[in-house]
Amino acid sequence: MDMKTKSEKPGGKAHSRTKKEWELKPELPDSHLVSTELFTSEKIFKEEVANIWHKVWLPICHESELPEVLDYRTSGIAGNVPIVVVRGADNKIRTFLNICSHRNNIIVRSPAGSLKNAEPSGNPNHMTCMYHGWQFDATGSCVEIPREKAGYQDRICKESLGLRQIKTEVAFGGMVWINMDDSAGPLRDFIGGALDQMLEQLDTEPLEIFHYQKSRVQCNYKLFFDTSREFYHDYLHFHNRQTSMTKSGYFDQEYTQFKNGHSVSGFTTVDYTSHQGTSTRTLTMPGLPPNGWRHSTIFPAAAYNIRTSCVRVNIIMPISDRETLIEVRGFGLKRDTAEERSSREIDYCSVWGPFGWNLHEDLLCAQVQTQAIKEGSGALWNVIAREEGNKVHDEVGVRACYEEWSRLMNRSTVNP
Ligand SMILES: [Fe+2]
Repeated sequence: MDMKTKSEKPGGKAHSRTKKEWELKPELPDSHLVSTELFTSEKIFKEEVANIWHKVWLPICHESELPEVLDYRTSGIAGNVPIVVVRGADNKIRTFLNICSHRNNIIVRSPAGSLKNAEPSGNPNHMTCMYHGWQFDATGSCVEIPREKAGYQDRICKESLGLRQIKTEVAFGGMVWINMDDSAGPLRDFIGGALDQMLEQLDTEPLEIFHYQKSRVQCNYKLFFDTSREFYHDYLHFHNRQTSMTKSGYFDQEYTQFKNGHSVSGFTTVDYTSHQGTSTRTLTMPGLPPNGWRHSTIFPAAAYNIRTSCVRVNIIMPISDRETLIEVRGFGLKRDTAEERSSREIDYCSVWGPFGWNLHEDLLCAQVQTQAIKEGSGALWNVIAREEGNKVHDEVGVRACYEEWSRLMNRSTVNP
C-alpha cells in the first residue's frame, strides 16, 4: 500500500476543521457520544438529583467512623442535602435527614467530612437543635420540646415530630449505604454481582478506616466518575504506565459490565518494583495474592479499589452541576498490628495520598475538562467509542454508565 492511499483512509487526508466541520455530529451510534449539555445544564442536574441520586443506593461513610454507641457523623448527599448517621444504643446504625422538625435548622453541626464526632450543645445522649432546644434520640424520635404543653397544648406533640429516617444498610466491607427512596429494594439486589470478586477481601474480617481525604472539585460529577470507568487513561498516570501498562497481558484484561450500571475489571497483579520509590507489597488483604489488584465501580457514585494491602473506596457526591465533593477513604484490617497498619499506610499513600501518584492526576483532568466544557465554548461531544472486545481499554464501562443514566433519566445522551 502506498502512503497516499493509506492517508486517505478512512477520513481522507488529516486536516484541521472549519467551524462547520467541527460542529458536524460524528458518524457514530448515539451510544458512543455524550452531549456536553449533560455537564452544563442546571435543569438536567435537578432531574439527576430526583431521578438518580434520590433513587439508588449510595455509600456514605464507614461503620468504623462511628465506633461507639451514640457516635454520629454528618454528611451531605447530592445537592448537599444534610444527613446524619448515628449508632444507636442498640448498636444499629441509622440515618436521618439532619433537619429539625420545627423550623428546619440543621441539628448536628459537626463539619461534613470530619472524622471527629463533635457533639451538639445539650445532652450528649441526644441530638439537640441549637435554635429552640428540640431534642432527638439516636432512633430519630423527638424526645424533648421545651415548654411543649404551654405552646402547643394538645394540637401537636413530640410523639408525631420525629426525624425523617432514611433507609440504611451496612454491607460490603462495613460501608454505610443509604437510599432516599423508601420503596427501594434491598441493597444486595441493587449491587447484583458487582462486588462478588472482592467479597473475601471485604468481608472476611472487619475493616477499619485509616485515611480520609476530601477534595471539593470544580467539575460535573460525571466527569470525575468517567475516570473510574475506563483504563485507557492509564496513559495519564506515570505510576500506572510503569507498574501496569508495561506488564505482559495488560491489554488482555477483561472488563465486565453488570446490571444497574456497575462495572468490574478482572483480577491482575501490579509490578511495583518497576517504579522508583515503591516496592513489592508483602502484606495483603484476605485471599489476595501479593501485588494483586481488583477494581469495581458502583453507579453512580462509588469505586472500590483494592491494591493488595489496602482497600480504597471513593465516593463522588455532586454539590451542583459544576461542583463535586470527592471523598477518598483507605482501609486496613481492624486487627492490624502497629507495624502492619504503618505498612498499609505507606502503600496506600504512595498511590492515593495527597503526595501520591494517581489521585491528583484524575482530579486535575476532570477539573481542566470543565474549564473547556461550558456553554458556547465549542465543546460539543465527549466521544466514548473505543471497542476492544470488552478488554481493559474498551470504553464499554463509560458507555454502560451513560446507558444507565439514559434509562433512569428517560433522556438521550445525544439530544438530552
Ligand atoms: Fe485515573
